[in-house]
Amino acid sequence: MIRDGFVLIGGDPGIGKSTLLLQVAQGLTEHAGLQRVLYVSGEESIEQIQSRARRLKIRNEDKIYLAAETQFEKALLMVKELKPELLIMDSLQTFSTGFVESAPGTVSQVREVTSRLMNLAKSAGIAVWLVGHVTKEGSIAGPKIVEHLVDTVLYFEGDSGQTMRLLRTVKNRFGNTNELGVFEMTSDGLIDVANPSALFLSERKEQAMGTAIVATLEGSRPLLVELQALCVPSPFATPRRTSVGLDSQKLAILTAVLEKHVGASLINQDLFFNVAGGLKLTEPACDLASMAAIFSAIRERPISSSLAFLGEVGLTGEVRKVNQIELRVEEAKKLGFTEIVIPASQMDRTSKIKGISRLPIAHVNEIPNLI
Ligand code: TYD
Ligand code: MG
Repeated sequence: MIRDGFVLIGGDPGIGKSTLLLQVAQGLTEHAGLQRVLYVSGEESIEQIQSRARRLKIRNEDKIYLAAETQFEKALLMVKELKPELLIMDSLQTFSTGFVESAPGTVSQVREVTSRLMNLAKSAGIAVWLVGHVTKEGSIAGPKIVEHLVDTVLYFEGDSGQTMRLLRTVKNRFGNTNELGVFEMTSDGLIDVANPSALFLSERKEQAMGTAIVATLEGSRPLLVELQALCVPSPFATPRRTSVGLDSQKLAILTAVLEKHVGASLINQDLFFNVAGGLKLTEPACDLASMAAIFSAIRERPISSSLAFLGEVGLTGEVRKVNQIELRVEEAKKLGFTEIVIPASQMDRTSKIKGISRLPIAHVNEIPNLI
């Protein structure tokens, strides 16, 4: 934790931000030697916060101070008195400062509260963690509009119907961006998932049609993810192309390359594409695996469950290098994959890795021979 660092943590309401920050307070007092953490909630009564803390089995009550307050100036008075090393403000949209006349949650309030917290962090040397609810457009201003004011922006994501949660760094003045933490929400709070690839693959079927595995990188962390494609005859003149987790422009390019260079036709077929586990893929290194999944769906040819794919695909169908290939191949091997298709140009670079066979591919027209 950086002494005067200012961290904004955004996420949908109910995703687990308050839970996470109480656990952060617990962790930092327990393992990083913090003596005073002030947690100010503008959302819940002191009884509610305490009962949540009890449910989460938060210890170190002598070091974690809980307060319920919506008036920003009153919260500042507490800070002055307590001089905490870490101040947690939950949430941005509930506080109002007397300096601005408008209601809490409006753009001007949200901006003013954030910039005054930034001043506090820098002038008093206090670490500040600020929660911001991501909101559908409307009267309440979201965390986006204050991202430029803070040092670090984290987003807490996940499907509220599922237990998996992802903590993503989108801005970091002090280190890497695109780092990813993977957690599971349980009845005892959030648990760090030590082996996220295993979680992403856990519900995978053996030899399924239309699915392919890729080793993607989230920050410096390799993650094995299952990509799924489904083709069905279309009742429409213009067949549907629906994608979750992969940009639809990207999907259009990959299907065009597939039709042109592999001869796998999607005429009169609806195509649905999905990234399992709710992850969003933006990496070109996932191109080849996406194409393999679509090819498998079109031709109804299952892909071996011990095979993974790596490679960027260009418009002429050439398979290009991916960055950090060793890290990705190692992760696939660790998860028990015995074969991985990689760009032919990177065979040399990975030749030291034993225990997994590497199958080279130079052009997408070789996909049919590999599946
Ligand atoms: P919360 O931290 O209140 O979300 P946010 O601050 O982002 O709005 O947590 C929301 C949900 O998490 C709540 O519906 C209940 C659930 N939850 C658990 O499943 N386990 C727990 O230990 C806790 C505290 C909450
Ligand atoms: Mg909350």
